[in-house]
Amino acid sequence: MLINNVIYNLAVFFAVMSSSCSLPSQPPTEYEGWELVWSDEFNHNGPVDSSSWSFEHGFVRNSELQWYQDKNAYCKDGLLVIEGRKEKVKNPNYKPDSKSWKENREYAEYTSSCIKTKGKREFLYGRFEIRARIPASSGSWPAIWTLGNAQKWPSCGEVDIMEYYIKGGEPHILANAAWGDKKKKHAPKWDSNKIPYSTFLKKDPEWANKFHVWRMDWDQEFIRIYLDGELMNEVPLTATVNGASGDFINPFKHPHYILLNLAMGANGGEVDENVLPLKYEVDYVRVYQKKKEPYQAFYPGQIWEDTDGVHINAHGGGILYHDGKYYWYGEHKSEHTSSALVGVRVYSSTDLYNWKNEGVALSVMPDGSKHVLEKECIIERPKVIYNERTGKFVMWFHLEHKGKGYSAAEYGVAVSDNPVGPFEFLYSSRSCKGVWPINMTEDEIRKAQQFGYTDRKKKIPRQDVVDGCWLARDIQTGQMSRDMTLFVDDNGKAYHIFSSEENQTLHVAELTDDYLYHSGKYARILPGGHNEAPAIFKKDGTYWMITSGCTGWAPNAARLSKAQNIFGPWTTVGNPCKGDNANKTFFSQSTYILPVHGKGNTWIFLADRWTPDNPINARYIWLPVEFDCGVPFLKWKDEWKLK
Ligand code: GAL
Repeated sequence: MLINNVIYNLAVFFAVMSSSCSLPSQPPTEYEGWELVWSDEFNHNGPVDSSSWSFEHGFVRNSELQWYQDKNAYCKDGLLVIEGRKEKVKNPNYKPDSKSWKENREYAEYTSSCIKTKGKREFLYGRFEIRARIPASSGSWPAIWTLGNAQKWPSCGEVDIMEYYIKGGEPHILANAAWGDKKKKHAPKWDSNKIPYSTFLKKDPEWANKFHVWRMDWDQEFIRIYLDGELMNEVPLTATVNGASGDFINPFKHPHYILLNLAMGANGGEVDENVLPLKYEVDYVRVYQKKKEPYQAFYPGQIWEDTDGVHINAHGGGILYHDGKYYWYGEHKSEHTSSALVGVRVYSSTDLYNWKNEGVALSVMPDGSKHVLEKECIIERPKVIYNERTGKFVMWFHLEHKGKGYSAAEYGVAVSDNPVGPFEFLYSSRSCKGVWPINMTEDEIRKAQQFGYTDRKKKIPRQDVVDGCWLARDIQTGQMSRDMTLFVDDNGKAYHIFSSEENQTLHVAELTDDYLYHSGKYARILPGGHNEAPAIFKKDGTYWMITSGCTGWAPNAARLSKAQNIFGPWTTVGNPCKGDNANKTFFSQSTYILPVHGKGNTWIFLADRWTPDNPINARYIWLPVEFDCGVPFLKWKDEWKLK
């Protein structure tokens, strides 16, 4: 009895352990932290399940003599079977004079099949597991692969989880990714690993007779392809950005569908007619995705996924609290450029940890529209405030015109009835044309008017900048308006605070009661201080402001300033950051200071850790504003929660 039990248990053990023999499949593996989101176990007899699969008829992957036939793919005894057969079929697209190999052959000599989940089962990221036995004779060209549906090949992206293919006269098993080449239109760029088939046979002469498990683990950073648990290829997604013909999209950050196919001839080699029909058998296709547990803390500097599992794309952002919800507005960035290809994104949250993508709040205008918001303009540091009087949501942002670098130095204003938009663009402008600031005396104005500098590249005494030489230069055209924030005071008055005068001096400009315009009342603050990225909050009647220095995307030390009146005088207190990397603001740059609703005296400092080589990958640094004897400071935290 005991002996029998041991033998029985051993048999079960081997059945479970062996993924490479042709035993019936086990129930899906449970991977901790992952959930099975879709699978086809092919456990019925008959045609493939049309709610998941359709046939690919048009795209023939270079195989010369092949038109796909629906009857060649069917389910039987728990397997999907794709047959490859000798069968003369008339080419439905036959045109005798055509130059295309798809058209100029009158007959196909062989038929097989290709099935795909296009439009039915598409996935962004996950673990794809396919157990299959592949026919490995000459002329057989089986594959397990994925394609993106966003664009044409190769810009749509292709992953070959398995491809059996002749290379240099030798069969190989391939694990590839392809996307659009940087320069050549419609040309693929490959990241390919080709392992000679003989390697597998050496390890196991029975390899061909067995089932094997192919797996792709795909996340925002890598595609990794495994065969029976062994890594076949690792493709970093930092490298997989399409060139110009693919609109610079990363095709592996968009959903893909799955294809299973058997082609015959061409790169599978000369068909060996003695072994026909070929049989390609698939035991299952399983797709797992990471279980999304809601965030319960902030993790500064890490990938921050929205509720769809995609890194939040709202840079240089600001936050509005309205009717029980927070709205996060920010710049949509792309893989290769910080210019606006999409516009301003908005996310919503009730707890500040978990954010739902609410789409594009303000869209750029189409290519060629010549609109100031034309795609590829620069939209930075958008902020939205709510106007109680008009019931409108008002967005201000820094705007630069397409192809003109940072020379326009304008702000833009847009408005919406709804916090998630769409926002309607109203106008863009430089600031306060013809108006002098309220904190300059007549003598000071007269002095500034004397300078007459026009060339900002010329070296001029710093004192002249402090005394307003650039302000005077721009008085008729309006003041420059770059890095910016908005602030609504306790009495409902709102202010636009921005880097002006060649980024040397900040301006605080009061808004009209509807928040749509400057009222004309403004002050210069911290003249010649070279401050960017202003973020402001008010505590116990004191205004506190955190800014950065001016080093472009590179981080520098933050500065803390304070004032009793928003128009000044402002005094600089020092660097608010403490501890390691304080002199680089923890490798970030301020963008906003958020008062947490319902928690008195709680503010969050929001900053961006820029990644100019791959702008979309930039990280968010959110830290609690702490106080030491009433003076705010910031300290790094890997993880923290609101109290
Ligand atoms: C930074 C600024 C950003 C962006 C960048 C361009 O200093 O804060 O918003 O304008 O320069 O180099």
